[in-house]
Amino acid sequence: MLVCSDIDQTCRVLRAARQGGKTVGFVPTLGALHAGHLSLITAARDQTDYVVVSIYVNPIQFCAGEDYRSYPRDLPRDLDLCRQGAVDLVFTPTDQQMYPGRCVTTVHVDKITEVLCGADRPGHFDGVTTVVAKLFNIVQPDVAYFGQKDAQQALVICRMVKDLDFPLHIRICPTVREPDGLAVSSRNQYLNPTQRQEAPCLYKALTAARGAIVSGQRQCDAIIDQIRGIIESADQAKIDYIAIVDLEQLGGQVVIDRPVLIALAVQIGPARLIDNIVLDENGRDVIIKGSEDLD
Ligand code: PAJ
Repeated sequence: MLVCSDIDQTCRVLRAARQGGKTVGFVPTLGALHAGHLSLITAARDQTDYVVVSIYVNPIQFCAGEDYRSYPRDLPRDLDLCRQGAVDLVFTPTDQQMYPGRCVTTVHVDKITEVLCGADRPGHFDGVTTVVAKLFNIVQPDVAYFGQKDAQQALVICRMVKDLDFPLHIRICPTVREPDGLAVSSRNQYLNPTQRQEAPCLYKALTAARGAIVSGQRQCDAIIDQIRGIIESADQAKIDYIAIVDLEQLGGQVVIDRPVLIALAVQIGPARLIDNIVLDENGRDVIIKGSEDLD
């Protein structure tokens, strides 16, 4: 496994792999790797010939007051996990490499970045799309893998790829959960034992919403009230948002008459947790496949 922090060297190695006829699968991460990341690496390993993981805590996607400084960093452990996942190349750029002082370009996806997590994290998605566009240009993957755990991020990246004609495919992989339903996340380690016990309320609420829809409920207000009730029964949970939106515009829905993303963000103690499910109008799980699905 190669570990490379230099952009030019990374481009050279990847050019050689592509010239050797290999397809390149790419998993961008912030590091602090866990089972969610490993599921993306496994998908890339299964579906492509040469697997690249980037590990970079991207400063420009953290807003003021967020956890940029305290974000967990453990490169030796991450590299071990990448080795176990049979990754071919780990790209670990420095801030100086990624954002030399003269950088003045931002990639901005409009509208669908203004809702849900974009509403109270100004500039966050510009930071994500800018770094991901740069990483795509450096790695030039055939397929890039994202988790449904961050559904809005995945949909924003699909839109960017479509709108800017990036010559690659996006695959969106299912959310990996702890046995009690909590979506695996690097930020779960901020929770103390009491908060950790409360944290599965997000998935419990989403599961109850699915149950209500399967039983015939189609009114979004009623479903959102039900979700709110379950979250509020956890002592330390503070709701940021609960939303039921369509998959193209991420627009709020009144009734469920098409596939929807049911998404929520909840602050539990020091951790802002997000989770979601994607369902069709009958409450059946929908796999959001990726950029090819968009018009
Ligand atoms: P990070 O939070 O490290 O996540 C990297 C990828 O892992 C994302 O596509 C995310 O959706 C996926 N992921 C995280 N938890 C998951 C889980 N429980 N199940 C399945 N997939 C999961 O998202 C980022 O980094 C950054 O914004 C990045 C795209 C790297 C740009 O800096």
